[in-house]
Amino acid sequence: MKNTQVVLAQRPEGAPKANDFAVVETETVPLEDGQALVKNLYISLDAGFRNWMDEDSGDEVLPAMPLGKAVMGLILGEVIESRNSGIEVGCLLMARLAWEEFSVVNEGDWWVEVDNEHQLPLSYHLGVLGDTGMSGYFGLVDIGQPKPGDTVVVSAAGGAVGSVAGQIAKIMGARVIGLAGSDEKCQRLVNELGYDVGINYKADNLSELIAQHCPDGIDVYFDNVGGLLLETILEHIAHGARIPFCGAVADYTAQKSGGGGPSNLFQLVAQCVTLQGFMTHFQLERYPEARSQLAQWLASGELKAHEHMYHGVDQCGIAFSDMFAGKNFGKAVVKVAAS
Ligand SMILES: NC(=O)c1ccc[n+]([C@@H]2O[C@H](COP(=O)([O-])OP(=O)(O)OC[C@H]3O[C@@H](n4cnc5c(N)ncnc54)[C@H](OP(=O)(O)O)[C@@H]3O)[C@@H](O)[C@H]2O)c1
Repeated sequence: MKNTQVVLAQRPEGAPKANDFAVVETETVPLEDGQALVKNLYISLDAGFRNWMDEDSGDEVLPAMPLGKAVMGLILGEVIESRNSGIEVGCLLMARLAWEEFSVVNEGDWWVEVDNEHQLPLSYHLGVLGDTGMSGYFGLVDIGQPKPGDTVVVSAAGGAVGSVAGQIAKIMGARVIGLAGSDEKCQRLVNELGYDVGINYKADNLSELIAQHCPDGIDVYFDNVGGLLLETILEHIAHGARIPFCGAVADYTAQKSGGGGPSNLFQLVAQCVTLQGFMTHFQLERYPEARSQLAQWLASGELKAHEHMYHGVDQCGIAFSDMFAGKNFGKAVVKVAAS
């Protein structure tokens, strides 16, 4: 079968651009024992995958992405052929595969079976019920633990993780402030996601604005960004605060363009702050708990799913670059095919 793929054409310098990627036509090849063929329905754009696009990257999760090969990403797809006794034809998988119409699952690849028990749109399994939504859940429930009356600040507040984290913090009774990269997005944080305040982190007087809106300091900082924004936040951190450290999007593109990190980490000591990193995909056994709670909040209307949808596999490179330019509101996802 014809298989349209989006490959890594050149290694991005700093923030990815659409021309770092190229669309190519290939063909699927017959399966070998142990493999399964997946028809990709949705492809998730995840900022963290930028980390494996550099030549000297690669770790136990993924090797550095090779040039000329389909870009790795999280997909939701349907198994259409299988020579693996553990993967049935017809089942839905969330898997770490590639930006293409059809992917082969090999033995040892990371995948989980998806049961759409709540009868929600399938794309939600990459967003609000997927890695990003569950990151909002684990970060706040396990680490942030906001109490009613606490002040919570969320960075990349309108993105896939941030949009869910902000809403969960509201559900938990906190006063919630979102940081985003444009005034228009800040308005949407308040009007569409229920944040109490939206602050444009690019403002010259950012520190003053934070002081004005957090007069008693920040009790929980849900951090998706790291870098110099974290440094500014630490100037206003409250005694005993918690920082669920979810990601560092400012660092992913900083190697060549310069970036910098906090020079005031002693604030963690002086204010007795807990900063804890976490990886959602290391908590597989708790996915049912997280999904069930998120689905319940969706059903009650307390939580709303926001998606920034693109159509056609060829859009993956554009969608990924748009995300680093802050063009997405909610989960950036590409619809590849109907189920
Ligand atoms: N720990 C985990 O298990 C886990 C799982 C999933 C994701 N994550 C992390 O969560 C974070 C968000 O990822 P996502 O996939 O949900 O992406 P996202 O938030 O939907 O998109 C990234 C957002 O980051 C903002 N941004 C981009 N460059 C920035 C910069 N230099 N400084 C400040 N903000 C910047 C942009 O919004 P603005 O308009 O506001 O600039 C953009 O919309 C990432 O750090 C990711 O690695 C962690």
